[in-house]
Order: sequence, then structure tokens, then C-alpha cells
Amino acid sequence: MTEPLKSLDARYYVDPAIFAIEKQHLLATTWQFAGHESQVKNPGDYFTFSIAGENLFCIRDREGNLNCFYNVCQHRAHELVEGEGNARLLICPYHTWTYELSGELRMGPNVLSTPGFDRSKICLTSVRLENFHGFLFVNLDNDAKPMDEWFPGAREELASYVPNILDLTPVEYVEVFEKTNWKVSVENYSECYHCSRNHPTFANGVIKPSTYDIQPQGYCLRHTTECQDDLSDMTYEIDLESNDKAGKYSSWFLWPMFSFQVYPGNVLNTYHWRVGDAVDEVIMYRGWYAFDEKSEAIARQLAVQDRDTTVAEDIRLVESIQRGMNSRGYKPGPLVLDPNGGVNSEHSIKALQEWTKEAVDQHL
Ligand code: FES
Ligand SMILES: [Fe+2]
Repeated sequence: MTEPLKSLDARYYVDPAIFAIEKQHLLATTWQFAGHESQVKNPGDYFTFSIAGENLFCIRDREGNLNCFYNVCQHRAHELVEGEGNARLLICPYHTWTYELSGELRMGPNVLSTPGFDRSKICLTSVRLENFHGFLFVNLDNDAKPMDEWFPGAREELASYVPNILDLTPVEYVEVFEKTNWKVSVENYSECYHCSRNHPTFANGVIKPSTYDIQPQGYCLRHTTECQDDLSDMTYEIDLESNDKAGKYSSWFLWPMFSFQVYPGNVLNTYHWRVGDAVDEVIMYRGWYAFDEKSEAIARQLAVQDRDTTVAEDIRLVESIQRGMNSRGYKPGPLVLDPNGGVNSEHSIKALQEWTKEAVDQHL
């Protein structure tokens, strides 16, 4: 008999050296959520964010193209923009070098007095960007494969579950700080073995656990289930007649830190994570989206319900796990891998832990 596969060693969750490797060789080489296209509707609209310790910003240029740049002036490294806003040109606050919205240097005080100064050689450093149905993702690795290769089928499937996806705008971002390693939070999100004991509202009023399954699809974890048989058990109103996916729940977790989640009734919501400064700090964001008044009311109701139930329940779990990871008494236990899959199997954890080791181990 082969020994069952054990969960990852605790050091992957507590060692600052491994966290540093992850930032450089995992978070900086994978697709990360930047923001939503509705934040950069007009030429000059921009917003800042940070990935793997790098400050970045997305901006729409005069031709209507979306660009992402490192937020750093090519003169002597001052940051260019803060927060979010609209700019006609990008003017560095230090010595007022001025850039076009497409990144080229336009002018700087007295620069042409310098022999050999070639303005055309100076441009902001751009970052790969993909627009995924209005959701903007970036990758700091210029050689990274496109998202459709990482997450086969996800783009088409998602559109079929959310008929109004291109009309959505964010109505709520619930921000949650967790005192835990980011992988504890992501692994916890990625299995429902803990749902029936810990998430009664979600397990009885949003989904039907007996049909829950999670399967890897490239570097995507695809969660599927149905709504409750008796719609009066659902915690919100859904209309099964509206389209063929209305009774289904589906989610696409895009390794390593983002998930599209569609609740029954075609309600799109998202998870994304940003690492904190330390190995045991993560910030998780729950995004809720809507396209009209009715969908907005449902999104707002669900955002509150989710914050008060599933999210609050998960914070307690993941912070307890982090304390446990620091315990001398912890020896990683076997993963529960039911060959038939289903809600009480940890196949998804096996996949996440393999992907972690694939990125990290060669640099240890
Ligand atoms: S650092 Fe930006 S103009 Fe000098
Ligand atoms: Fe949970």
C-alpha cells in the first residue's frame, strides 16, 4: 500500500524566506487581478495598486487603449501617481518630467540642454495586461503565457454563466484582513470539506453540498454545484426561468489569488487576495457586481450576508490554522483524497500544494 499524500510542511506557511521566494518566483510570474475596467472608463482615468511589492498603475490613453505601468519615473525614480484619478498628462512631482498617457516621455525642464539626450529612448516600463470580460489582470513576467492557456475554457464558461458580464460594475468591495499566510486563506477557500460544519448559511441557503465538486482545469480550480431543491430554502430570490444556468453555482479559481464565483441566479462575485508585509498577513477582498437596480439590491444583500456569515466564519478558521502551523506539535496529516471526488475530498488542496512546490522548491 502506498502511503497517503501528506499536506505541505508548516514551513511553507511560516518561513519568511519562502515568502520572499514566492513574491519573486510565483506572484511576479502569474496573472494577478488589478481592477475593473469601469475604474478607467475615460482617457486619462487611472488607478494604482501593488503586486508582489511592486507599485503599479493602470491608465486609459487617448487612443482608448488600456495600459499598465510600473509607478516609477524614468529620471530618478520618484513615484508618478497616487490613489486614483484622471490625468491629461503624467507629470512627475519631483522635477516635472512629463509623460504621455501611453508612457513616452514628452518633455522635462532643460533636458534638451544635455548633449546626447534622446527623448524618444525614454518610456515608462510597461506591464503585461489582459482584459477578461472587463476584469483587468496583469503579469509582471513579460514571457508569461496568456490567461487562456493558464485557465483553459474559463473565459467562455464564465460568459455563459453571467449573460450580462460586460454590463457589470462593482457595487461593493469588502476588505478583510486575516492574520494568516495567504496560502492558508486560498486553500481554505478552495475546499468545501469544512462547509457543512462551519458555514450553515452558505451550505443550506446558497448551495447544495451533496452535488459539490471541484476539479482542476489547467491552473484553474473549477467548483460546481446546484442551488437548493426547495427555493424557499434559498436566502435570496432567484428566477430559474431566466436562463439555463440560473439554478447553478460555479466558480473559477485562477491560481494563485483570484476567483470568479457565480451564485445561483447568475450573481457574479469575486475573491482576490493581496499579500501583506509579513508571511502571516493577507488581505482578502470580496467584490460584488451588478448591472441594474434589482441585481444591485441582491448583490448588496448578499455582500452583507456573506460578510456576516461565511467571511466571519472563515477568518476564525484561517487564523487558528496559522497558530497551528507555528505549533511544535503539528505534523502534516494526510489529505483526504476520495477517488470519486465530491464535497468531502481534498483534490483541490493537492493541486494547490503541487503548484506551490512547482514554483518554490527549485529556489529553496
Ligand atoms: S524623478 Fe521624476 S522628474 Fe526627476
Ligand atoms: Fe470556508
